[in-house]
Amino acid sequence: MPWIARLSGFFSATLMMIILSPFLQSFAPAEAIKSTQTDSYLRLNAPTESSDSLSRFSFRKAEVFHNAIECRSLNLGKSGSCDPSLVHVAITLDIDYLRGSIAAVHSILQHSKCPQSVFFHFLVSEPGLETLVRSTFPELKFKVYFFDPERVRSLISASVRQALEQPLNYARNYLGDLLEPCVRRVIYLDTDLVLVDDIWKLWNTSLGKKTIGAPEYCHANFTKYFTEYFWSDQQYPGVFSGRKPCYFNTGVMVIDLVKWRRLGYTRRIERWMEIQKTSPSRIYELGSLPPFLLVFAGHVAPIEHQWNQHGLGGDNVKGSCRDIHPGPVSLLHWSGSGKPWLRLDSKQPCPIDSLWAPYDLYGNL
Ligand SMILES: *[C@@H]1O[C@H](CO)[C@@H](O)[C@H](O)[C@H]1NC(C)=O
Ligand SMILES: *[C@@H]1O[C@H](CO)[C@@H](O)[C@H](O)[C@H]1NC(C)=O
Repeated sequence: MPWIARLSGFFSATLMMIILSPFLQSFAPAEAIKSTQTDSYLRLNAPTESSDSLSRFSFRKAEVFHNAIECRSLNLGKSGSCDPSLVHVAITLDIDYLRGSIAAVHSILQHSKCPQSVFFHFLVSEPGLETLVRSTFPELKFKVYFFDPERVRSLISASVRQALEQPLNYARNYLGDLLEPCVRRVIYLDTDLVLVDDIWKLWNTSLGKKTIGAPEYCHANFTKYFTEYFWSDQQYPGVFSGRKPCYFNTGVMVIDLVKWRRLGYTRRIERWMEIQKTSPSRIYELGSLPPFLLVFAGHVAPIEHQWNQHGLGGDNVKGSCRDIHPGPVSLLHWSGSGKPWLRLDSKQPCPIDSLWAPYDLYGNL
């Protein structure tokens, strides 16, 4: 369907809404409208001076997003992440997923009532990306942290998909160390998602006594995340005794960093990675997810499923397109091997990809 890709942004999104209205029934009407963000997107389409020559990456400058009057007043110092009124978001910036990260940030700003109260913590393993973020989002509050791939290289074992072995995938395990001690809570987000709702609602989730919060999927077959070798071991399965472990996706997590640091979760996760590495047979097949499940499954504060409509990436090999799960939508997540920017570029998008396109800032329009 190459004609779809040629229709730009708003029109394509609107058209898809009409064509696919049965398919979009699962959107609450307000969310469906919000997700296209008509007027701000059209403003984005206005010609902007090309600010590239940075590298092979060229992103358009995003418009500046301002706080609504009712936002809590900020100490407007440009730097500093210790202001208690800030919402903290951590996300990785990696060359292969950069376009996704930029779209994620853009979507957060667009749907926030208080966009200037969001502070971004970018985790990188290569230099030069700070300039790019600054030129795309001139007024963004952010800090860039270098995550040394060597920190985890020796702990990573081969997994079913090569993308899962990237060291930066493991950076989420080190947020407690990387971020300043004054940052007490953080939302970790993957690079292949967009928000269509105010991030403050996610930030405001109560974690109760738990250290992390995430949508849980108790109907998923938990057994399959670990190998037969794991389940037949004398000791390993005992790690789940006394809890009701459910699958959760580590691409959207609210983390209490104070508890995380105090209870030493980084080390607990590393221990399972060491076991995987040294055990005579693998205990799991996927990348950074299983150690999180081992440590946290059954100890997760449940967050509403609308905050992680996952699996939209589907499986690129089979060219399969996924539908949204029923219910309201606050966050769309293209987990799986297909990515919306690649499918849009190849002129073979999935219908759902038209909901990602309005946040894309790549290239000069
Ligand atoms: C959520 O917001 C309300 C109102 O501002 C506040 O009283 C409450 O403590 C917040 N909860 C969390 C977990 O931040
Ligand atoms: C769950 O997965 C395991 C391993 O793949 C399989 O043996 C088992 O039959 C599955 N259970 C259900 C209820 O589907």
